[in-house]
Amino acid sequence: MALDRAVSASPWSEQVLAPYLRSSSADTHVALVLEVAGELAGFLFYTRLLDEANIDNLAVAQDHQGKGCATALLAAGLREMSAGGLVRCLLEVRKSNVAARALYENNGFVVDGIRPRYYKTARGREDALLMSRRL
Ligand SMILES: CC(C)(COP(=O)(O)OP(=O)(O)OC[C@H]1O[C@@H](n2cnc3c(N)ncnc32)[C@H](O)[C@@H]1OP(=O)(O)O)[C@@H](O)C(=O)NCCC(=O)NCCS
Repeated sequence: MALDRAVSASPWSEQVLAPYLRSSSADTHVALVLEVAGELAGFLFYTRLLDEANIDNLAVAQDHQGKGCATALLAAGLREMSAGGLVRCLLEVRKSNVAARALYENNGFVVDGIRPRYYKTARGREDALLMSRRL
C-alpha cells in the first residue's frame, strides 16, 4: 500500500488490495511482486475471469523506475496468464499516463475503447483507455 500510495494517481484501499494477497482467492486474484536486493520494487495484480485476465494494478517504486522493472513484471504476468490457459488480457489506463501507455503499446496491447471521464483528477475527470492483447 505504501508503494501504491507513493506512485499511483488513485491508490487502493486495504479492502481492495486484500483479496490479491489471500490464498483463498488465489484462483481469481493474482499478485506478482518484484524484489530488488530483498526489497519490494514493484507489483502487478491481475484477476482471472473465465478465459480472460484483467490487469488491475501495476506499479514500480520511484527509485526503480526507468530500469525495465515494469517490463519484467508484465512479461512474467503475460507468461503466467498464457501458461494458465487464458487467451486475452485486458486493462484500463488513464489517457494522460504516457509511461504506462507506452509500456503496454510496446508489449502488444492495442486501444479498443474509451470510457469518457472515467477517472477523477485534481481538476476534474479524464478518460480511460481500454486496451487488450491476445495471449
Ligand atoms: C508505468 C510504470 C509502471 C512504468 O514502470 P518502469 O519500471 O519505469 O517501466 P520500464 O522501465 O519497464 O519501462 C517500460 C516502458 O515504459 C515507457 N516508459 C517508462 N517510463 C516512461 C516515462 N517516464 N515516459 C515515457 N515512457 C515511459 C517506455 O516505453 C519504456 O520502454 P523503453 O524504456 O524501452 O522506452 C511506472 O512509471 C509506475 O509505477 N507508474 C505509476 C503507476 C502507474 O501509472 N501504473 C500503471 C497503471 S495502468
